Amino acid sequence: MTDLTLDADCGRAAELLKGASRVAVLTGAGMSAESGVPTFRDALTGWWARYDPMELATPQAYQRDPARVFGWYVYRWRLARAVEPHAGYRALAAMAARFDRLAVVTQNVDGLHQRAGSKDVLELHGSLEDFRCTGDGHPYYADRLLELDLPDEGDVEPPACDACGSPIRPGVVWFGEQLSEMTIGRAWEEVAHADALLVVGTSSVVYPAAALPGVALEAGAKVIEINPDQTPLTPQATHWWGAPAGQALPALKQVLDQYE
Ligand code: OAD
Repeated sequence: MTDLTLDADCGRAAELLKGASRVAVLTGAGMSAESGVPTFRDALTGWWARYDPMELATPQAYQRDPARVFGWYVYRWRLARAVEPHAGYRALAAMAARFDRLAVVTQNVDGLHQRAGSKDVLELHGSLEDFRCTGDGHPYYADRLLELDLPDEGDVEPPACDACGSPIRPGVVWFGEQLSEMTIGRAWEEVAHADALLVVGTSSVVYPAAALPGVALEAGAKVIEINPDQTPLTPQATHWWGAPAGQALPALKQVLDQYE
């Protein structure tokens, strides 16, 4: 693990953050890569390698083949539960104490921010822990899946809702579906009132999440992008730090702590 605290990019990021009182953090799949969760656009390992996630994460795919789609989400749900939030997640959660407010807006559905101790987390695309029925949206508690005799991997016939009998679906946003108005509205607010926005591990290509950094810049906030690769956001960002989240965030916290 390289020590990035002496890295000029780290110093610059800390410099931009240290005077902030309100911070917003926008994260994407790259934030979970070092915890062992495949990013969205990387080829997935194992059983699902031959499927394109874009073909599975849609209402049409669920209509066409509910067992295939539900099986993929059970696989992702199991994976999210099996991994641990890395040091970058923990550093981000701990960093919140030094600001009046630090809100996390995530596109991820794996729940790792909350498990690392982050308090204010907005899940723009829902959560793998939230299942609901396709009838009246009755909740289906994820732990109930543990009681079912599920295959280790592959297709899983969606269980039926106790209340209305309709098939259960994942509580995540599929391509072509609307995000929760309330959640995106609150995310907009957080970002529009932040003094600084950290953008970590997102390819910045999926809207409306990808519009949030523009809202921050518009409001005069500093935007710091942490991503080993450059993205469409990079040219607009106040600062791009080409480093992995699991190494950058602990180093950033360490340098910020020196500003005590
Ligand atoms: P992507 O897979 O599109 O992008 C992941 C980004 O993380 C890329 O820019 C990588 O370079 C970067 N990355 C990889 N490893 C990293 C690391 N260790 N540290 C930091 N960055 C790293 O995932 P998202 O941008 O999250 O939406 O994708 C956005 C949305 O596209 C997802 O939420 C999903 C998909 O459609 C829905 O499911 C609705």
